[in-house]
Amino acid sequence: MKNNVILIGYMGCGKSTVGKKLAEKCQLFFLDTDAWIEEKEGITISEIFASKGETYFRDLETECLKELLKGNRNNEVISVGGGLPVREENQKLLRQLGMVVYLKAEPETIYERLKGDTTRPLLQTENSLQKIKDMMSAREEKYQAAAHRVIMVDGKNVSEIVSEIQKEKTFIF
Ligand code: S3P
Repeated sequence: MKNNVILIGYMGCGKSTVGKKLAEKCQLFFLDTDAWIEEKEGITISEIFASKGETYFRDLETECLKELLKGNRNNEVISVGGGLPVREENQKLLRQLGMVVYLKAEPETIYERLKGDTTRPLLQTENSLQKIKDMMSAREEKYQAAAHRVIMVDGKNVSEIVSEIQKEKTFIF
């Protein structure tokens, strides 16, 4: 098992924001799987969904995890796309990469943060609160299966969440 910290959770739970701050505080490299995929493909996530479809995107997510496991990279903060832990294969790969932390939020919190967002293809729908609720409850057991730790994020600021992650003694920076 590698010694990275991996942040998982639903869209808008703060993975990237918290991950960047944690990496900055601990002077570690930060990697976001969505950014890795966009760079590799040279187009945005929305464009990938529209032109190549979701399965193509999901295959890239698995490929990204395999690349990270294969190389010498280690001791990094990795934020992954909200749907990445859904694939059972990915749950195993995630846990091999390091300590997996699930940032858990209430659907209403997510809705407030993401209303008006146009960059998440899966949420471009009429009743997005209901869609968020449905997707979150369908994914809950996948997130739990992938995670070593769960942190509730509602009502907490970024620094508080970063400190909570740092308090976990099972990984060494
Ligand atoms: C997705 C989450 C997004 C991105 C894509 C699909 C999902 O990442 O990977 O739009 O299925 O939950 P964020 O969680 O970083 O928004």
